[in-house]
Amino acid sequence: MGLAIRFGVSLEKELLKKFDGHLRKKKYQNRSEAVRDMIREELVREEWLTGKEVAGIITLVYDHHKRELVNKLMDIQHDFHKSIISSQHIHLDHNNCLETIVIKGNTSEIKTLAERLKSTKGVKHSTLTPATTAKDIT
Ligand code: NI
Repeated sequence: MGLAIRFGVSLEKELLKKFDGHLRKKKYQNRSEAVRDMIREELVREEWLTGKEVAGIITLVYDHHKRELVNKLMDIQHDFHKSIISSQHIHLDHNNCLETIVIKGNTSEIKTLAERLKSTKGVKHSTLTPATTAKDIT
C-alpha cells in the first residue's frame, strides 16, 4: 500500500447523516475505511465492465442422480479449463450436490462459462460472485 493522502469531501448534512447511519449498521469504525471499500468495489465493478482479467466464484447446486447433467457440467468445465483454477464438490444430502468453481480470466469468457453452466437443464441454483485479481487495487 502506498502513502495515504488525506482529502476533504463536501456533503449535504442529510446525506452525511444517512452515510453515518449506514456505517454504524455495517460496523465500520470510521468513514475512511468505508470510503476505501466503496472505491474498491467501484473499481472491481469497472474491471468486470471493461473486460480486464478478473477472478470470481461460480456456485452450482444440482441433483447428481441426473447422470446426463453431471456429464454436461463436466464437459462445459473442460471447455473452459484455462479459466478454472479449482473446484470443490460437496454432497449436501442424498440427492443434492453443491459445487464451487474458482475462476480467473477474461470477463467475457468467465461470463460465458457461468451462463452455460446456469442454463444447463437440471441445475437448481447457480450464481457468479465477482471478485478481483487485486493487481490494480491496493
Ligand atoms: Ni455430490
